[in-house]
Amino acid sequence: MKIKQVKLIYFSPTGTTRKVLESIAEGIAAADVEQINLTLPQGVQKTVPPFSDELVIIGAPVYGGRLPADAIKRFKQLKAGKTLAILIVVYGNREFEDALLELKDLAIELGFNPVAGAAFIGEHSFATKDVPIANGRPDSLDVQKAMAFGTKIKDKIKVLQSPDALMDLQIPGRFPYEGGVRSLAVAPVTKEDTCTVCGTCADVCPTAAISMNGSVATQVELCIRCCACIKNCPTGARVMEDSKWKNIANWLNENCSTRKEPQIFGIDVYK
Ligand SMILES: Cc1cc2nc3c(=O)[nH]c(=O)nc-3n(C[C@H](O)[C@H](O)[C@H](O)COP(=O)(O)O)c2cc1C
Ligand code: SF4
Ligand code: SF4
Repeated sequence: MKIKQVKLIYFSPTGTTRKVLESIAEGIAAADVEQINLTLPQGVQKTVPPFSDELVIIGAPVYGGRLPADAIKRFKQLKAGKTLAILIVVYGNREFEDALLELKDLAIELGFNPVAGAAFIGEHSFATKDVPIANGRPDSLDVQKAMAFGTKIKDKIKVLQSPDALMDLQIPGRFPYEGGVRSLAVAPVTKEDTCTVCGTCADVCPTAAISMNGSVATQVELCIRCCACIKNCPTGARVMEDSKWKNIANWLNENCSTRKEPQIFGIDVYK
């Protein structure tokens, strides 16, 4: 089979998942690549036409070893008819646990035919310059691996007779899935002295938790702690101050600093 078009579909508050998907697409080298970014609040109601003979790469970060509830909500509106799909989760160098299995099961439920999957590493959402956790990832080595994965995907699809060929993709994980994000009922805070009221934080918030009315107001109960507002604030005025949240970041910094490498499923990378 020849790949006519590649569609990248993702939920990616801090952009690491998007970068991995773009690198895989670069490796596939399809002439036609379309991005369907479902991260922002509009992503919940976005009308995505049903898929047919394109190759779809679906990506989401790992939250508490699972898919983020907001990613599931967005992906649930997708409809496919045996459309070939590549499944990607990106995690912050701790673990991805059941997230990729959850994505595979969801993709099958939506009508996709999963060809391959992978877990890549991205800078942890909670990481800062002072408390690094996989900072700068995906880095150039990850990008190379993602591109090589893309090339192998193209090779695998080339020899397929039809899009409904049985893939039997084996993904590690437990069912019923375990883990998930514990509710902390906290959100980043704004340092009024350095905030320029530019509105960037509100623009990038996937849950519309931030509103601007002469100053920044945050609805704590809507916050999913994705850290998009912190990482995108041009003046560093958005910070996490909650001690429980900071303790988690410190724990990750101390215990998850040994570099992990991407894991690929459904493709023999050594062939
Ligand atoms: C609420 C929350 C929970 C997270 N849970 C995990 C986890 O269980 N394991 C892990 O390694 N990283 C975890 N991360 C880190 C993200 O998976 C990682 O930073 C990812 O690269 C973010 O993707 P994005 O840039 O596409 O938003 C978590 C991040 C957030 C915000
Ligand atoms: S992005 Fe930063 S500077 Fe801009 S409004 Fe938000 S907190 Fe203030
Ligand atoms: S307010 Fe919460 S949900 Fe919104 S961008 Fe910031 S961390 Fe993410």
